[in-house]
Amino acid sequence: MNFKKNILCIGAGYVGGPTMAMIASKCPLYKVTVVDINKDKIREWNSDNLPIYEPGLDELVKKIRDKNLFFSTETDKHIREADIIFVSVNTPTKTFGQGAGKAADLQYWEKTARQILANSTGSKIIVEKSTLPVRAAEAMDRILNTKNDNIHLEVVSNPEFLSEGTAIADLENPDRVLIGAKQTPEGISAGKEIVEIYSHWVPRERIVESNVWSSELSKLTANAFLAQRISSINSISALCEKTEADIDEVGHAIGMDSRIGPKFLKASVGFGGSCFKKDILNLVYISQSYGLTEVAEYWESVVNLNEWQERRFIQNMVSNMFNTIAGKKIALFGFAFKSNTGDTRDSPAIYIARGLAEEKAQITISDPEALANAKKDLSDMEENIIYERDPYKAAEGAHAIAVLTEWDLYRNLDYKRIMRSMVQPAFIFDGRNILDHKKLFDLGFNVFAVGKAPMKQF
Ligand code: NAD
Ligand code: UGA
Repeated sequence: MNFKKNILCIGAGYVGGPTMAMIASKCPLYKVTVVDINKDKIREWNSDNLPIYEPGLDELVKKIRDKNLFFSTETDKHIREADIIFVSVNTPTKTFGQGAGKAADLQYWEKTARQILANSTGSKIIVEKSTLPVRAAEAMDRILNTKNDNIHLEVVSNPEFLSEGTAIADLENPDRVLIGAKQTPEGISAGKEIVEIYSHWVPRERIVESNVWSSELSKLTANAFLAQRISSINSISALCEKTEADIDEVGHAIGMDSRIGPKFLKASVGFGGSCFKKDILNLVYISQSYGLTEVAEYWESVVNLNEWQERRFIQNMVSNMFNTIAGKKIALFGFAFKSNTGDTRDSPAIYIARGLAEEKAQITISDPEALANAKKDLSDMEENIIYERDPYKAAEGAHAIAVLTEWDLYRNLDYKRIMRSMVQPAFIFDGRNILDHKKLFDLGFNVFAVGKAPMKQF
């Protein structure tokens, strides 16, 4: 079949895979290819066991794979053939050298730019899909347009706003799609080409066009604002625990103010995931490099409060379990950073598990999708941890349960049966406020939830 356009995406991760599957399914006349340096990942994308779990993804991929959606490791060849290249490689926090611990590590992204340059035999549009520091497009532009030939590689910013666990729904029905282009004739025309792709299914009024720098900075800012809400509500959760105010009631009451709104006001053990912390720290680093110390400190406090909330959760467990958890079995219900994903990057559960292990607790971890990743995250402490998919078995003989991920399955377990199988007095620490606390208390549990008065049997 002759396709109208060749779209390539470099990076077949949590963003590249689902995003390209959505574009391919909505634009049947475009050929969409996703490449990655990780051969295993590409093999999985071409198999029945996709490398990531995301509700609705399996069906979507299977419908269009090898029709107009392809997964490949032949990056150079596909660069040559592509009209439009999305770059969706990872941009984690730098762990070495200048800016270590805060700045974005741009090495994968820069390698990609150089590979595009080396293999381009015609003009193309290069789309920044990865989350990047503001003004990254300037560097990309310099790298891409160093050759003295007639090829022009125009950089457009199109940050992704999907959330893991709801990626397919978010892609299908986004609040907005943001496209930032240089305000030159080439830039404006490249921006319009990207608008055209999304216009296949996104209402025109939800496609926002801006300059490149606004687009880059909006992505970091959106994540920072979302994370800031969680740190704000989590700070109030501590006050609720001291005063018998209830965090869900407070969240509900303030969320009814339409200027504040109800979303992202759920108190928790802390926010996790591969993006909030890294993107805020990147914002901190950028602010510092412009000499804006107060701005940097302000945003850093959002991350600090999150770390404090995680620490507080561990301290709460220890102090309420008679100041010692050494030798006690503790079952962790959930390890993913949120429900409906197997992703554990920066999950609060990693920190909690390590903190409990330092107190010499015996830990059993349960999770329906994230056990393989959990094992990798805690590979250095293998002998101290048991992994058990079945929550009933995980809780057997435990002194306490800590709910760390809001999986629906934990809401509806037979807690009477669980209670009977545990060491008494039995404790439950609900780090996601998803359980029926009154019911658990009536069953005999000592119940501790985030931002709620403790319910103790003694
Ligand atoms: P990921 O780690 O899941 O995927 C990135 C992929 O890029 C990896 O498979 C890696 O092997 C591949 N890669 C790296 N260098 C490569 C190269 N030179 N050639 C080919 N492939 C290469 O990361 P992700 O979660 O998909 O995130 C990608 C970007 O999107 C990041 O900048 C992230 O901040 C941003 N983002 C992520 C999310 C999310 O929910 N995960 C949402 C919005 C934006
Ligand atoms: C987040 C943003 O929501 C996306 O818009 C963005 O595209 C993405 O980061 C990114 O740039 O990677 P994600 O990290 O997948 O998406 O998940 P969220 O739903 O935002 O949850 C992040 C963390 O906050 C989770 O640990 C979640 O449990 C926690 N959270 C969320 C709360 O503790 N309370 C809330 O009210 C909401």
